[in-house]
Amino acid sequence: MRYTRLGTSGLVVSKLSFGAGSLGIGETLPGLVKNIDQPTANNIVACLIDGGVNLFDTSNKYVEGKSEETLGKALGARRKDVIVASKCGLPVGPLITDKGLSARHVIEACEKSLKRLGTDWLDVYYAHIFDKETPLEETARAFEQLVQQGKVRYVAVSNWPAWMLARYVGIQERYNYTPTICNQVYYSIVGRDIERDLVPMAQATGMGIVVYSPMAGGFLSGKYERDKPPPPGTRRATFTLAPKLDMEQAFRVVDLLKDLAPKYGVTPGAVALAWTMQKPFVNSVTFGISREAQLTENLKAADITLSNDDAAQIDKLTAIEPALR
Ligand SMILES: NC(=O)c1ccc[n+]([C@@H]2O[C@H](COP(=O)([O-])OP(=O)(O)OC[C@H]3O[C@@H](n4cnc5c(N)ncnc54)[C@H](OP(=O)(O)O)[C@@H]3O)[C@@H](O)[C@H]2O)c1
Repeated sequence: MRYTRLGTSGLVVSKLSFGAGSLGIGETLPGLVKNIDQPTANNIVACLIDGGVNLFDTSNKYVEGKSEETLGKALGARRKDVIVASKCGLPVGPLITDKGLSARHVIEACEKSLKRLGTDWLDVYYAHIFDKETPLEETARAFEQLVQQGKVRYVAVSNWPAWMLARYVGIQERYNYTPTICNQVYYSIVGRDIERDLVPMAQATGMGIVVYSPMAGGFLSGKYERDKPPPPGTRRATFTLAPKLDMEQAFRVVDLLKDLAPKYGVTPGAVALAWTMQKPFVNSVTFGISREAQLTENLKAADITLSNDDAAQIDKLTAIEPALR
């Protein structure tokens, strides 16, 4: 396993991190069904820690809070050995106050996450989404209060546009608040939008980038076929909000991943993970699984390095035009 500092912070994280969004039994969003029970989660977490993964990603939204509960129990006494990141902001209940980034919700959500995880502190606490209604100053103050109370070590955002993040960072600087260390965003071989704006921002400012859905929700594993419906039991069979894909391009990518995989002795999905980990602007790549067997395959991505030629071949298939020339 390779490690890196998260943004310009001193926090050292594994380049491959685990998306605990799949732990627990239930639904995160309609059709996004999760099915990993506690004993299986215990095995998965033990295997990840043994494999060198030290960053575990969850949210109060995942599996209706059961992801946090299951992760907390699976970590047990080893919680102190790892970095736990959780999030708030997405709707988690019927009330108008059960979502967003108001001080009221952020503080309440954090306290509930700590309870579910069975821990006294979150290493990284993300604003899971931006909130157009709440003043950025209020959100920044709420996160700072959590840091001052010792409930949160590092603050972060997820899915924020560059312009809003730039304003937010300015506010944190003005009030001498703990700085935002990273933005967690979607990025994969077939989803490279962040290269237009967020990556240049990160390169200019040192803002960290943690990537989610690096296999495009499982598409890059190579298990979907042209002109065939998604196999039963796969994410795309039930979940329509999976990352939008240019299907012809995505299948061309999968063809290449399948060609390259035997050379490295791994699966096509592991080649996709390795490509993403090799991007210099990516601090950590947060992958998911739906069953234990996928874990061993995916972890192998940490042991390989794609040659420059192979990485460039993949790159060429989905390179995007820069926004400004
Ligand atoms: N901040 C955010 O807004 C946000 C959003 C999304 C995710 N996340 C985080 O990122 C994590 C990962 O997201 P993701 O699950 O979308 O990532 P992903 O790694 O792109 O997709 C994971 C899915 O791909 C399939 N898969 C994984 N390994 C496989 C293998 N070896 N062979 C075949 N299929 C395989 C599984 O789905 P099936 O077997 O069910 O097909 C698995 O659940 C989440 O758990 C969460 O922590 C954050």
